[in-house]
Amino acid sequence: MNLIKKYYTPSNTPLGEGGGEGGRAKKSVSVLSPATVANVVCGFDILGFALNNPNDEVTISLSDEVGVQIINQDDFDLPTDPEKNVSGAALLAMLEECPDVKGFTLISKKHIKPGSGIGSSAASAAGPVVAANYLLGNRFSKEDLVRFAMFGEKVASGVKHADNIAPAIYGGVTLIRSIFPLDIIAIDAPELYVTVVHPQIEVRTADARKILKQNILLKDAIKQWGNIAGLVAGLIKHDYELIGRSLEDVIIEPVRSILIPGFNEVKSKCKEAGALGGGISGSGPSIFMLSKDEATAKAVEKEMSNIYERIGLDYQTHLTTINQEGVKLVSS
Ligand code: HSE
Repeated sequence: MNLIKKYYTPSNTPLGEGGGEGGRAKKSVSVLSPATVANVVCGFDILGFALNNPNDEVTISLSDEVGVQIINQDDFDLPTDPEKNVSGAALLAMLEECPDVKGFTLISKKHIKPGSGIGSSAASAAGPVVAANYLLGNRFSKEDLVRFAMFGEKVASGVKHADNIAPAIYGGVTLIRSIFPLDIIAIDAPELYVTVVHPQIEVRTADARKILKQNILLKDAIKQWGNIAGLVAGLIKHDYELIGRSLEDVIIEPVRSILIPGFNEVKSKCKEAGALGGGISGSGPSIFMLSKDEATAKAVEKEMSNIYERIGLDYQTHLTTINQEGVKLVSS
């Protein structure tokens, strides 16, 4: 397990360069903000990992106007009122703690479709705060950035949760032991290939949370605790078999999977094709599967495609790996 560095510098940028401590002030910063898989089957609201693909493109610059100006350069028609916009809400929370800064201008080009289940809102919240922090000389810790970004997540789903935001900012696999106060643990996972299928329906996280049971049976809780502990142990021990048999959710999946056409078939066929296991990505409708090697991940992608071709539902697949660095600086 890694202890987390307190002060954040995008990992591909040496300290002191650009916006880094002691460096020249920069006018604008562009980053790639990654998609993420939250829950990781049994860890509802407490586990997540970042993906190398897809990413949103975000550019931030300092503004002389008070507040946050949002320029959307995509077809998603997201609100430009910062209080109703995920990125805007996150940046406004940051501005509250920056009395010396008037405002930011944000240019957002999203590639992660909202409502896809692969952390579109978290990418919208995490990218801007990491970029803005860099612009301000990295004055905030990663933990602070998660705290700001959660204001964005609240706009999207009605509640603050960090299981997409933390991996988007820290990279890798993260465990969120607590959000009040924040306690985020980076988990040193083995190499894993991730195959994602996004059936082209939209599931709003807020709706997918409303349908969940508020009370659970003790016997189900015990099973879930065993699986979460097994999954975390399996990741740390790089024990693929243990990871595979811990990827079981007896609480959330039985309720939410009903919203996803083909879910049970995708799961069973992908496991037959050699996947370690998988399930609903975040609140869905995307489904993710973990594999030990690329050939298996490709076979899994083929199974996913076959199923949605047969069902006659449009879909998109991603075959990728775990992003270890989180939001990535691309230019400043
Ligand atoms: N943990 C959240 C949920 C993730 O499942 O509602 C949303 O992407």
